[in-house]
Amino acid sequence: MNDKHTWKVLEIFGSIVDREILITSFVDDVLGYENKDDSSLVYFDNVSKKYLEDYIQSNSNIKKWQWSEIVEKNWMQNCHDFFKPISIKDKVYLSTVWDEDEKNNMIDIKINPALAFGTGHHETTYMMIEAMLDFDFKEKSVLDIGTGSGILSILSKRLGSNRILAIDNDHLTENNFIENLKFNHIDDVEFKIADCTSFIDYNFDIILANINRSVIVDIIPNLTSSNTLVFLSGILNSDEDLINDLLNQYNRKIQKIYRKNKWSCIVIK
Ligand SMILES: C[S@@+](CC[C@H](N)C(=O)[O-])C[C@H]1O[C@@H](n2cnc3c(N)ncnc32)[C@H](O)[C@@H]1O
Repeated sequence: MNDKHTWKVLEIFGSIVDREILITSFVDDVLGYENKDDSSLVYFDNVSKKYLEDYIQSNSNIKKWQWSEIVEKNWMQNCHDFFKPISIKDKVYLSTVWDEDEKNNMIDIKINPALAFGTGHHETTYMMIEAMLDFDFKEKSVLDIGTGSGILSILSKRLGSNRILAIDNDHLTENNFIENLKFNHIDDVEFKIADCTSFIDYNFDIILANINRSVIVDIIPNLTSSNTLVFLSGILNSDEDLINDLLNQYNRKIQKIYRKNKWSCIVIK
């Protein structure tokens, strides 16, 4: 009998924009993914193939896909090959927990890439980190919405924040969050499973929200304090006007916009 764990791999074909839109829409179920020239490989643990195929047919422009499986040993090797260390602005060095090298002159963050997001390899996280480096976090309270791997909470701590609350609505993130904080020797970040659309205490100096357009649209009306600095990511360039109109409606002012490929990250007050 083969007792090794097996993961399902969905390969989707289509334009990079259509692939990314689909992947981010079912991000809650995704363990990881990698983009190739003509296709993307999306990794799942337990997922109903029928459910996903129905979802793809009704909610995306993707017309072609195929399934395969990989076993435990190859999964670890795949992760190892895919998540190479990266440095951001020569200030933050992101690597996986199995990379042994450390960069003493940079903020060194180690992540176990068990989840799709929160390794820094995706543009939306990369820009959050870039943006965070441009603002002052010393002695600030931080709400990290959709914390995932906890990467932004770890960076907030390293940048000097004094109180951090991290929330995510997906209970599968909890173990990964806890282990990543431990790997980075941090034990004073509060974590809660919560849905930010029904979460009402937005009274923090800084709010981090790398989520997606629809959740960001839902939370903007709750950002009532002009003293709170809010970092919004997970926004496509093409949705900037829509977000901008909403920010005007609620009197929020844009401080800075970051763009990488088709993604935008907006810092507001
Ligand atoms: C794009 S990931 C961001 C992870 C990490 N913060 C980063 O910047 O890489 C988005 C996260 O938001 C969480 N999320 C999605 N909708 C949410 C909601 N309504 N309330 C709280 N968390 C949510 C997802 O479970 C996921 O972990």
